[in-house]
Amino acid sequence: MIFNNNKYEKIIVKTFHGLEETLAREIEELGGKEVRTEIRMVSFRGNKELMYKANLALRTALRVLLPFKTFNSRHPDNLYRQVKNIDWSEFFSAQKTFAIDSVVNSKYFPHSKFASLKVKDAIVDQFREKTGKRPSIDTENPDVRISLHIADSVCTLSFDASGDSLHKRNYRLEKTRAPLNETLAAGLILLSGWRGDKLFLDPMCGSGTFSIEAAMIAKNIPPQISRKSFGFFKWKDFDWKLWEKVFAEAKSNIVEKTCLISASDISKKSIEIAKGNIKRAGLSGDINISAADISNLTIDSDEGTAIINPPYGERLKEENIFKLYREIGDKLKKDFSGFDVWIFSANKEALKHIGLRTSRRLTLFNGQLETKFHKYEMYRGSKKVSKSITDSG
Ligand SMILES: C[S@@+](CC[C@H](N)C(=O)[O-])C[C@H]1O[C@@H](n2cnc3c(N)ncnc32)[C@H](O)[C@@H]1O
Repeated sequence: MIFNNNKYEKIIVKTFHGLEETLAREIEELGGKEVRTEIRMVSFRGNKELMYKANLALRTALRVLLPFKTFNSRHPDNLYRQVKNIDWSEFFSAQKTFAIDSVVNSKYFPHSKFASLKVKDAIVDQFREKTGKRPSIDTENPDVRISLHIADSVCTLSFDASGDSLHKRNYRLEKTRAPLNETLAAGLILLSGWRGDKLFLDPMCGSGTFSIEAAMIAKNIPPQISRKSFGFFKWKDFDWKLWEKVFAEAKSNIVEKTCLISASDISKKSIEIAKGNIKRAGLSGDINISAADISNLTIDSDEGTAIINPPYGERLKEENIFKLYREIGDKLKKDFSGFDVWIFSANKEALKHIGLRTSRRLTLFNGQLETKFHKYEMYRGSKKVSKSITDSG
């Protein structure tokens, strides 16, 4: 038995650095207890039902883990012995496949692969000695995914309840050049404060990630509504009835969207790709999409939220990328009065060429890449204000 039905266990949810607080709020809204943030993760206490809900409904989660063993170890042989002391037959049989994912930050275990190998050997050896059979390794689609985390000498073993990473929502089968991770896109929308209450613009939409995530937020559609399987489906104690109840409840909470969501991009090819993704997400009737250069975009509203993810400029000459960011700034001054505009970019120099004062500056990490999420509040009649800000630098 991995999870006792009514027991409250410690559950860990992984996310991007910079989204921890947003994820913590989501977990609280689901009903998580003792919610605590750490770097790239949030822990809470919850029962099996909440663990199922977390996998289905958390927009800013990458993985949901169930830690089941923590111990101290300073040597690979000792790690092997301690892992072998766990009765693995309690959790799965020799007929199953498994995989170990490791995150190791320890002077005692300088090579994370070697630490995973020790854990794998200990599990396989135990099964072989007890039953004469051994479970096989399958790194792609294992029956049981085990996560090994070592910080200094503290080793934690967890079962991975998600299986495939939760950023995969099944709609983005086609990608443009630099698509944003779906979990990150949803997190940025939640950070912006937009909740489906007013117009949402995604004027450099690429593969359409922001608009699709925005429409799912507006309609309260769980991000994993199309997923066929989670890691916990293959656990010994999987409760199909409970899962069906959780799923049906989430589906019944989907609402009609009341606001307008518009996506556009200069590239016709991106628009075709985005349309395909929007269709797969079942949101064709919910998102207006067209090809347009941001400079020529017609804005018919005097309020709304825009999230812009411009190219970072890896493939462009510096003067061209600076020019593009200047054009974005000029357009915002000219036509976005009344809007909250957020720009997400890893190019700090280019961001200076927007030429407007930021009202919030957030830093996030897309893997190792430091990225900025800047807010510009475009007050009505702000042309003069913007000009004086630009003039004074
Ligand atoms: C970093 S990508 C956006 C990725 C997108 N967030 C996604 O998840 O797929 C930047 C996009 O800006 C578009 N773009 C570049 N210049 C533009 C312009 N002047 N007007 C509108 N879109 C532009 C590119 O075609 C590209 O799709």
